[in-house]
Amino acid sequence: MALDIDPARWHPDTIRGRRVFLRRHRSDQFPAILRWYRDPEVARLTRFQVGPVSDDEVRRYFQLRLLSPDAFAYAIHLAEGDRLIGTTTLSALDPDNGSVLFHITIGEHDCWGHGYGTEATELMVAHAFDALTLHRVGLSVFEFNTRAVRAYEKVGFRVEGRSREAVWRDGSYWDEIHMGILESDWRRLHPRGVPGGRTARGAAGGPDDGADTGRDGDRDTAGGQPLRYGRR
Ligand SMILES: CC(C)(COP(=O)(O)OP(=O)(O)OC[C@H]1O[C@@H](n2cnc3c(N)ncnc32)[C@H](O)[C@@H]1OP(=O)(O)O)[C@@H](O)C(=O)NCCC(=O)NCCS
Repeated sequence: MALDIDPARWHPDTIRGRRVFLRRHRSDQFPAILRWYRDPEVARLTRFQVGPVSDDEVRRYFQLRLLSPDAFAYAIHLAEGDRLIGTTTLSALDPDNGSVLFHITIGEHDCWGHGYGTEATELMVAHAFDALTLHRVGLSVFEFNTRAVRAYEKVGFRVEGRSREAVWRDGSYWDEIHMGILESDWRRLHPRGVPGGRTARGAAGGPDDGADTGRDGDRDTAGGQPLRYGRR
């Protein structure tokens, strides 16, 4: 099969949407990342373990998973004013089967519920299918995170299964929901792609977690190699 993907297309510096754009992380973003990852409400929504994380743990995560040139991670910015609001990554890239896991965290509470997460998810999923030529994108999300479930459903993710009562939160057990979207689902639901979706080349590095439930120690990086994935 032809290895014909331009690295700048495969791992661009910027992916532009209408109201948000994705740009590779920069080292001066650490204070914001630290604030988000130490935020108890973000931890409640995204992590199995909600105990405090140390600055060092977040720093290591930032360096390895968000800043590294091999990490497929993007900062989420508002198109208007360039404000940094979150982070999104692809992990556990499986080239043999054309699949990857998606994660997103909008760390700024005042930016929840404005459609930014849906648009950032659409941009990443479009990128996974168009540029990375993958076959499926999966994620996991806690049952009580109804805002996230709704955003993923709007993009076209379907519930594929659940790990019953996998998480203890707020005095009850809740399911971990597994969702996925296939390239065929995406093409059917978004025949024209993402409105405004464009990529730009440049340099820098970076992936994270959004649907990061804190168990994905298997997060693989996705940077660098100009490979064609999947069976297309
Ligand atoms: C999950 C997340 C990415 C969603 O992005 P967002 O920009 O807040 O969500 P959107 O505005 O795009 O879409 C949310 C949808 O849920 C609905 N919604 C908002 N708050 C809700 C709530 N409390 N309960 C149920 N639905 C809710 C909105 O109305 C919207 O649906 P609609 O367009 O049909 O009206 C973002 O909220 C986030 O990062 N949260 C913190 C971390 C997190 O939960 N990450 C995901 C882990 S799996």
